[in-house]
Amino acid sequence: MKTGFIGWRGMVGSVLIERIKLENDFQYIDHTFFSTSQIGQKSPYSQYGSPYLMDAFDINTLYEMDVILTCQGSDYTKKVHPMLRNAGWDGYWIDASSSLRMSEDSIIILDPINHDLILKAINDGKKDFIGGNCTVSLMLMALGGLFKADLIEWVSSMTYQAASGAGAKNMRELLSQMGSLNFSVNDILMDPSVSILDIDRKVSLAMNGSEFNITNFDAPLAGSLIPWIDKLVGEGQTREEWKGYVETNKILGKKEPIPIDGICVRIGAMRSHSQALTIKLKKHVSVSEIESIINNDNQWTKIISNDKESSLKYLTPASVSGSLDIPVGRIRKMRIGDNYLSAFTVGDQLLWGAAEPLRRMLKILNS
Ligand code: HSE
Repeated sequence: MKTGFIGWRGMVGSVLIERIKLENDFQYIDHTFFSTSQIGQKSPYSQYGSPYLMDAFDINTLYEMDVILTCQGSDYTKKVHPMLRNAGWDGYWIDASSSLRMSEDSIIILDPINHDLILKAINDGKKDFIGGNCTVSLMLMALGGLFKADLIEWVSSMTYQAASGAGAKNMRELLSQMGSLNFSVNDILMDPSVSILDIDRKVSLAMNGSEFNITNFDAPLAGSLIPWIDKLVGEGQTREEWKGYVETNKILGKKEPIPIDGICVRIGAMRSHSQALTIKLKKHVSVSEIESIINNDNQWTKIISNDKESSLKYLTPASVSGSLDIPVGRIRKMRIGDNYLSAFTVGDQLLWGAAEPLRRMLKILNS
């Protein structure tokens, strides 16, 4: 299939291309690279497709593609997708951005969880296949087995989301904030005679000062956290929290939606999102059965035993970043009651949270 790539130089796009190269997918993908800014320059991967970068706004060239995969963002999708569809293009549109996710004609793709739904959609002639919100995809990868076994009555997900979810500029800003905090005390940090409260006072002054770089986050993140992601959608819920409910149920194809809610929080992790989950089970199931259901659902989930050593070693953003593993730990019955389960999971926001479901969709279409 002739496949056009758009937005492949950005953060998600670059991770996607890395994965495609690692899996040797370019062998079977007839690829053309498009650009919004460097049209006509040499394409970096021109083995099968055009040797030059094509114009990402040229509807005629886009029209020749069987598949368009875009990581360019919602503005691009909103502009180009309707133009192409109105012109009669009936190729497959694979998209990392959220703008088409909840449209009636689209499918949210996460094939380890909804492979059947994806195949049915292809057979039914659906053409828009959209990657899910990162937090939703990572939660579903972790709890897929319990959802499939119909064991979940409701879930409350309290998230700890990395800077990468807000974009590349935000990752840089987090690091620059960390540097500023260190700089504010670098003359006294290692001096044991200086009180920690004096150090903390200086750090606090720095992070609340007018010089502190909060251009992208609008608040200090290093040394702090931000309990609000995206905009208000109503009744005190943010859009990120709303997605947890609507997208999960759409991915699962639920006619009777499962209640899912929580508070989404930005923390100073670089590129892996964590979630603390409270799950109300529909019936009594032992912890060992739960662990085996989670573990057997897909090859990426890894049960982490509920002890300090394993949690510190395997259940942190630092240990997961750059990996496709989805560790699930801290699994135990809560004191609230036997049907209440707690769990903690971490996953790379750029891999299963963004690029990997898109790469796998290309593979499904080419198989
Ligand atoms: N909206 C997510 C976040 C990332 O802000 O972390 C994209 O899915």
